Amino acid sequence: MTETTTTALPPPVPFKFGEHHFSHAANTLESSIIREILKHSSQPGVISFAGGLPAPDLFPIEELREAADRVLTRFGTQALQYGLSMGYGPLREFLAERLTTHGGTQLTADNILITAGSQQGLDICGRAFLERDNYVVCSRPTYLGALQAFNFYGVKYAVVNMDDEGMVVESIDPIIEKHKPRFIYVVPNFQNPTGITMSGDRRRLLVEKAQKYSVPIIDDNPYGELRYSGQSAPSIKQIGGQAVIQLGTFSKTISPGLRIGWLAASRQTMGMFERVKQSTDLHTTQFSQFVIYEFIQNGALDRHIARIKKSYHERRDAMLRAMKEFFPESVTWTRPEGGLFLWARLPEGTDAKEVLPKAIEEKVAYVPGQPFHPDGSGANTFRLNFSNATLENIHEGIKRLGRVFSSLG
Ligand SMILES: Cc1ncc(COP(=O)(O)O)c(C=O)c1O
Repeated sequence: MTETTTTALPPPVPFKFGEHHFSHAANTLESSIIREILKHSSQPGVISFAGGLPAPDLFPIEELREAADRVLTRFGTQALQYGLSMGYGPLREFLAERLTTHGGTQLTADNILITAGSQQGLDICGRAFLERDNYVVCSRPTYLGALQAFNFYGVKYAVVNMDDEGMVVESIDPIIEKHKPRFIYVVPNFQNPTGITMSGDRRRLLVEKAQKYSVPIIDDNPYGELRYSGQSAPSIKQIGGQAVIQLGTFSKTISPGLRIGWLAASRQTMGMFERVKQSTDLHTTQFSQFVIYEFIQNGALDRHIARIKKSYHERRDAMLRAMKEFFPESVTWTRPEGGLFLWARLPEGTDAKEVLPKAIEEKVAYVPGQPFHPDGSGANTFRLNFSNATLENIHEGIKRLGRVFSSLG
């Protein structure tokens, strides 16, 4: 019989992750103020207009269950296997056809890369174009998640003001000439955070400027299909063709948890985007792509979008009505024709961040607007989301906010 001796392992050497162990880029990342606020707004009884969440009661759970079941029964081995970096072919074909008919562009599946939500589309653009100290042109305010994605690459922002027609493109020449940006970032439809839609004239002018200076445009379009009133303008991609990289997503129309978006660009640039995507995560989750493709068959996507539009339309109108009834005259706001957000302004000199604790005391939450301004301006602004609360909670929450704002004097 052999004897085995067990030698006790030495105690583990204490190992401290000092700052130098992380990359400079990681060390400079700030945690999102929205995440911080969402922590407060998830307290019991708080009516939250802070997040950007779709309505959970409108998720097509039954239909997705059936789609998932069909996928596993018919395509199980393929849906659970590794896939192509560009994405699932039939889904890319579907999107190319839909963007061609709805968006007026001429696209084929070769122009479509499936991404893990449009947030990954933003990161892919960052990886493909940005280096430390490069400039990005964007509006003031703009989507906070885009700033977070681009900040990772150590960029600076050249900001352009906004008015009721979106980015004030008329003032862009000296900005481009001075900063030589790598791209221009816009959310032309029902922008997050303001809800403002860029006018047709501004879209045409933006494309003209992009072509004049050979600067690509990133057209981030998660809300384009969610129009409740007014007329659509042609998409920037339709006007600008190859100068434009368009990002889309099923997050707002089907479900953000499935994490399926896309990047539409010219064939010449696709090889680059494909390599960047491959180096990031090999490919987007096969299973979600298959389930979405199965779900959207036979006009189901349009039927579902019609259903959520009806409900969001009611919620937007309920919020606008309540604001008119309960907000003091000193507060002004936008009247978006679609999307999930509207944007309001407190009197100059009032800081929406400082008012927020009072609102939380009244059990209602919003997002202060300053973090959406790359230059730190906009202290008196804030964003309200109208898609996630019920009609009753919209009425009650806005009433509570009205009390808070009226007490500011
Ligand atoms: C303008 C904009 N771009 C991108 C995203 C990210 O969406 P996704 O869930 O597709 O990553 C959002 C989400 O709120 C957004 O508002």
